[in-house]
Amino acid sequence: MNKKYDIIVVGELNVDLILNNIQGFPEEGKEILADDMNLTLGSSSAIFASNISTLGAKTAFIGKIGIDTFGNLTIDSLHKRKVDTDLIIRSKDHQTGATIVLNYGEDRAMVTHQGAMAHLGINDINVSEIKKAKHLHVSSIFLQPLIKKDIIQIFKIAKDNGLTTSLDIQWDPEEKWDVDFKTLLPVVDVFLPNRQELLAITKTSTIDEAIDYLLPYANHIIVKMGSDGSRGYFLKEKYDIPAFKNEDVVDAIGAGDSFNAGFISKFIHGEKLEDCLRFGNLIGAINTCASGGTTAFKNMKRVTRLAEERFGIKI
Ligand SMILES: Nc1ncnc2c1ncn2[C@@H]1O[C@H](COP(=O)(O)OP(=O)(O)OP(=O)(O)O)[C@@H](O)[C@H]1O
Ligand SMILES: [Mg+2]
Repeated sequence: MNKKYDIIVVGELNVDLILNNIQGFPEEGKEILADDMNLTLGSSSAIFASNISTLGAKTAFIGKIGIDTFGNLTIDSLHKRKVDTDLIIRSKDHQTGATIVLNYGEDRAMVTHQGAMAHLGINDINVSEIKKAKHLHVSSIFLQPLIKKDIIQIFKIAKDNGLTTSLDIQWDPEEKWDVDFKTLLPVVDVFLPNRQELLAITKTSTIDEAIDYLLPYANHIIVKMGSDGSRGYFLKEKYDIPAFKNEDVVDAIGAGDSFNAGFISKFIHGEKLEDCLRFGNLIGAINTCASGGTTAFKNMKRVTRLAEERFGIKI
């Protein structure tokens, strides 16, 4: 069926102010200098939307931001990557969310003001718009209390209207993991946790135990494992695909979201699980070649060049 969008993303939007080359983390009452600064589009959902759009999917976004400078930056950044922003709500009551990221060597400290993103809820989701898409992706439910509350209903609406669906829960800052996964996972076609998240929600200590526990309720379960690559499970199928070696990682901010973009861009075309995983790994690895989650994905030409020059893959 010819639909207006390939992908509709429901999710959080914020900007990241990334400070690099600092001499240590700041101490109370003191000030330190950062030699490098980057103000950029942040948030798992926005990185996913931006990058899957660059990979060729017609993408729309439902989210909430403020009427402010950071909101304008968010809209401009998504526009530059051809994401449809008509469904993004601009709230006069809340500011656009922002995260300050302090990068110190291998360590990272972050402070987030959620702002408008915490006020996005099921009432902001228009079913007639959902119907125009082939696939729904949702991320970061623990940063969006209203979305978390109605997450099962949101996925049911998508399934009832013929969409395929994917979910990346991301980390729960409260570590409560208070979602009924046994009811949720049957309406999620592709579940995309990383290793730590998978173990946390199942209260297990190995991936195998966690998969044994969840697979009876789930469809595809994809486990992201950083430089160890990814694993995919569906019924009796099981794949363990190694990562593409990157000897020169700039940072891994957004690698998980870029993996999701790569995986889902193949999944929506009905490609084999193994091929979706391999392409997810490639797009995740490409993400690590440039700073932040979207820099490596400026346009398809750049993605193709990085794939070939850095990983010897023709796409
Ligand atoms: N250092 C790396 N080298 C090569 N590939 C990587 C590296 N880091 C991540 N990847 C690729 O990206 C995928 C997703 O990364 P990761 O496992 O870090 O996801 P995540 O923990 O969900 O990340 P995020 O912090 O973005 O949410 C990995 O499965 C792997 O294929
Ligand atoms: Mg992640």
